[in-house]
Amino acid sequence: MAERTRQALAQGKSVVDMTLGEPDFPTPEHISEAAVRAIAEGKTRYTPINGSVQLREAIVAKFKRDNGISTTISEISVGCGGKQVIYQAFLATLNQGDEVLIPTPYWASYSDIVGMNGGKLVPIQTSPEEGYALQPGALEEAITNRTKWLVLNSPSNPSGTAYTRDQLQTFVDVIRRNRNQKFFVLVDDIYEHILFDGIQFTTLAQLAPDLLDRILTVNGVSKAYSMTGWRVGYACGPRPLIEAMTKIQMQVNSHTSSISQAAAAAALDGPQDEVRRRCAIFQNRRDLLLQRFASISGMRTPKPEGAFYLFPDIRELIGRKTAAGQVIENDMEFASYLLDEGVSVVPGSGFGMPGFMRLSYATSDEQLHLAADRIKTAVEKLT
Ligand SMILES: Cc1ncc(COP(=O)(O)O)c(C=O)c1O
Repeated sequence: MAERTRQALAQGKSVVDMTLGEPDFPTPEHISEAAVRAIAEGKTRYTPINGSVQLREAIVAKFKRDNGISTTISEISVGCGGKQVIYQAFLATLNQGDEVLIPTPYWASYSDIVGMNGGKLVPIQTSPEEGYALQPGALEEAITNRTKWLVLNSPSNPSGTAYTRDQLQTFVDVIRRNRNQKFFVLVDDIYEHILFDGIQFTTLAQLAPDLLDRILTVNGVSKAYSMTGWRVGYACGPRPLIEAMTKIQMQVNSHTSSISQAAAAAALDGPQDEVRRRCAIFQNRRDLLLQRFASISGMRTPKPEGAFYLFPDIRELIGRKTAAGQVIENDMEFASYLLDEGVSVVPGSGFGMPGFMRLSYATSDEQLHLAADRIKTAVEKLT
């Protein structure tokens, strides 16, 4: 859809692009300045494979400050984005046919990465009625002796669902009850700082010190600090796993750029008020869109607690006919129709949930109003 959007824009069409997976804000100035300083100071050489000591110390301090997790610089992995860290974790551990449990809807890359490394994705269904939240009973049922990983992502891309401490506790209880199935848990906290309504962020490792030898807590600077292009992600976890991931990275790209690492250290160590200010902007945008969507019948949009996406249920619209007489057969065709009507979204199928769609609100209020107008008109034209 991103490609088709680019083509439509290149042809001069007016399209509101709601496919974006990155904040629309610039990297804060003090972070960019740290990068410029790093160049001037000659920090332009190889760093250790698992990240510069300066950055890993900043990460250790971040985990302590924000999450109450005590870790050391030898239990940290730094990669070229959270994506590389996740890729290496699966490459280091998955054998052919190993099962990876992932609640739907899920970030599309998990499924591709699992597949590329011989794993078998086991989706655990969730529903919009339950705010797309994983239910502990469904988790328990999905665990088998082939389970190698469980993936938890909160706040979630694409649903924005965030787990409370109590919800996470129910998952911990299930994992403890099944402790002889020795699977890892990948906890993807990349949207940690985009969390609304005063909800307190909690991560699994805080609740289960007895399971630390199985939890990989992944995070990164892309979303919180608008640093998607700098390519820095990191994780803390059990040392043997971190060492295996580091060995892989050594032969892939050694490490991410030394300049980006200096910038990421400045992001983690520096003032955090801009992060909070931007989070408040995202919350206002969420509220704006939810309010606008409330009057569109046939589209149900659960209220997300974080990230910068909405994930409306559009199953009621499937089977309806456009003004041109075309029947909308599925979410892909609906997304295609919306693009013709001037709004670009991602079909839910890509996230393991056909009949839904993802809209990113990482854009201006003006664009959001325009998108809401166009979506409402497009839906009302269907018969
Ligand atoms: C859920 C989730 N995890 C991880 C990432 C990886 O981000 P990056 O590789 O930029 O750190 C993304 C990016 O879209 C994401 O949405």
